[in-house]
Amino acid sequence: MSAELTHKNYNKIIRMVCGYFGCILILGMVTLLWYLGFISFDTNKELSSNFDNLFYMNYEVAQLEDTPENDLTKYGYQLFKDTPKFLGPDNEGANEVFSGNRLSCNNCHLNSGTKPYAAPLIGIINRFPQYRGRENKTGTIEERINGCFERSLNGKMLPPTSREMKAYVSYLSFLSRYAPEDGNVTGKGFTTIKIPERAINVVKGEHIYNNVCFRCHGNNGQGVMGANGYTYEYPPLWGNDSYNNGAGMNRVITAAQFIKANMPFDDLYESQKLTDEEAYDVAGYINQMQRPTKPNLEVDFPDLLKKPVSTPYPPYADPFSLNQHQKGPFQPIIEFYKKKHNIKKTK
Ligand code: HEC
Ligand code: HEC
Repeated sequence: MSAELTHKNYNKIIRMVCGYFGCILILGMVTLLWYLGFISFDTNKELSSNFDNLFYMNYEVAQLEDTPENDLTKYGYQLFKDTPKFLGPDNEGANEVFSGNRLSCNNCHLNSGTKPYAAPLIGIINRFPQYRGRENKTGTIEERINGCFERSLNGKMLPPTSREMKAYVSYLSFLSRYAPEDGNVTGKGFTTIKIPERAINVVKGEHIYNNVCFRCHGNNGQGVMGANGYTYEYPPLWGNDSYNNGAGMNRVITAAQFIKANMPFDDLYESQKLTDEEAYDVAGYINQMQRPTKPNLEVDFPDLLKKPVSTPYPPYADPFSLNQHQKGPFQPIIEFYKKKHNIKKTK
């Protein structure tokens, strides 16, 4: 009887001790996870140094008080969201026309330039000046913005000293204010896909377009104009009001990466993502449709070794046909540059 009692007490003591150490253990683990940044008790995300939280910071320009400097930032935001309203072919203020189509920066740099893997512009200011293969020189942020003006917007360069250019730079600086010094942000650029080892299948691409994309971008790729009459609600994917053939989006690999991570662009998106193969085929389909052509493309990439493999216009520093550079398969071209020049091509 007394032996049984001692045994019971013994068990009780063990349970107490285990419970005690268990608590300490759990507390220790939680502290460690918190210390390593996996969990946060911090409701004010702005205080956290976690990298990915960069995308959850407050990038609302409306929060800024009215000072001349902040007004410039706010103007830059407007130019970014409603580009054609201010600079497009039929702009409101009868400003000089700089963009040749009615796209806005925001149509590709989604959520005002703050969406990861949609070429976000958080940290962009810190990444410039930057070496650019297309010009084979170190370029400024103004030159990079003008790259999108001349190609994505099928227009012409904004003078670097104009109020509009200063406003763009001011807005991009505002977006970059929490970014690390080198501007190297996880989520910059586009996602990567496994590039299928075959040419694009235009028939399959058309099928995907007609089943998935046409609901928003229209049955003829023409998009849907928004209520203000200047800015698209759903931007066009081809035709005269789309990006020109010198644009980054006209490379099949770049477009496939953009589409894979971002389209369809709505609340249902989680359930509707395309496979890599589908993104590749539909990118191929939209990019072989008619669109504006940019003059003087032959002077791009003075060092041809820097040219991305899916650049759809010649000349090239390899023996592959124009057709293959436009439609794939891209693996043989990628392998050629790897073997012959030890260059790793990704787009
Ligand atoms: C049709 C789509 C499209 C539109 C519209 C567009 N861009 Fe871009 N932009 C791109 C693509 C694609 C890239 C990446 C190009 C590459 O990989 O070579 C890019 C890159 C950039 C970059 C460099 C990004 C980086 O991470 O290095 C800046 C800055 C930029 N765009 C600014 C703008 C501004 C400002 C506007 C409006 C005036 C604009 N873009 C309009 C597609 C677009
Ligand atoms: C639910 C509507 C919706 C669907 C479906 C959709 N998109 Fe979009 N897409 C948008 C919106 C909206 C934008 C512009 C985003 C903005 O301005 O905020 C856009 C932008 C784009 C752009 C960049 C801008 C341009 O005009 O070049 C491309 C490319 C694109 N979509 C391709 C596709 C493809 C391919 C599909 C089908 C796989 C697709 N989208 C399906 C709504 C949609």
